[in-house]
Amino acid sequence: MRLEKILQSQGFGSRRECNFLIKKGYVKIDGVLCQDPKQEVKTTDLEFSVNDMPYTYREKVYIALNKAVGYECSHQAQYHFSVYEQFPEPLLLRQIQTIGRLDQDTTGLLLLTDDGQLLQALTHPKKHVAKEYWITTVDPITQDQLDRLAQGVELRNEKGIYTATDLIKTDTHAFKMTIHQGVYHQVKRMVAAVGNKVATLHRHRVGGFELPQDLKEGDWIYLTEDQVALTKQ
Ligand code: URA
Repeated sequence: MRLEKILQSQGFGSRRECNFLIKKGYVKIDGVLCQDPKQEVKTTDLEFSVNDMPYTYREKVYIALNKAVGYECSHQAQYHFSVYEQFPEPLLLRQIQTIGRLDQDTTGLLLLTDDGQLLQALTHPKKHVAKEYWITTVDPITQDQLDRLAQGVELRNEKGIYTATDLIKTDTHAFKMTIHQGVYHQVKRMVAAVGNKVATLHRHRVGGFELPQDLKEGDWIYLTEDQVALTKQ
């Protein structure tokens, strides 16, 4: 692929802007300066740098963020920070999107990508991708409440019954559950429907992909192909 096109695809601006960066000597390929925007470059395992910042060529990007409290999943955040503020400019120019949303006060696994197909696959209502949440509650969680969540509850203004699976009580005020749909504030509303209230909410898993233990709150990583495949399970 031509170097100017590579840079453009990786989020470094318009073709003209990329052309400028290359001609001005900002771009190195495998450590070697390259000032010809039309040079053909292989994209397999390509490492390049722009202004001495190293980058790896990625056809599509897949990201896992350990979301902290106080971030909204929208570009124009109203009352908090936007999750997008945490990412470098080239990723934003690639128009990464969150796969589904977490509330500003929810922590944990949030996936982002610029791959429209994965976005569709994981958010389509018919796909029923599993999402595991770790929940603490304001009142003690009872066996009756867990049973009712497993049997399913109705939610105001939503059709059908909303059930949870893999319910495990982990403390007097804490439990885990997995849901397979994704309507607005679903977990909080389900817990409210059985007469309790969510105190804190943390997403631990999407599909078969668990939040990596060593990924600190606010940090993010690129997913490998195998990890992307796990999210779809
Ligand atoms: N359900 C909620 O209520 N909030 C979230 O952030 C995610 C699921």
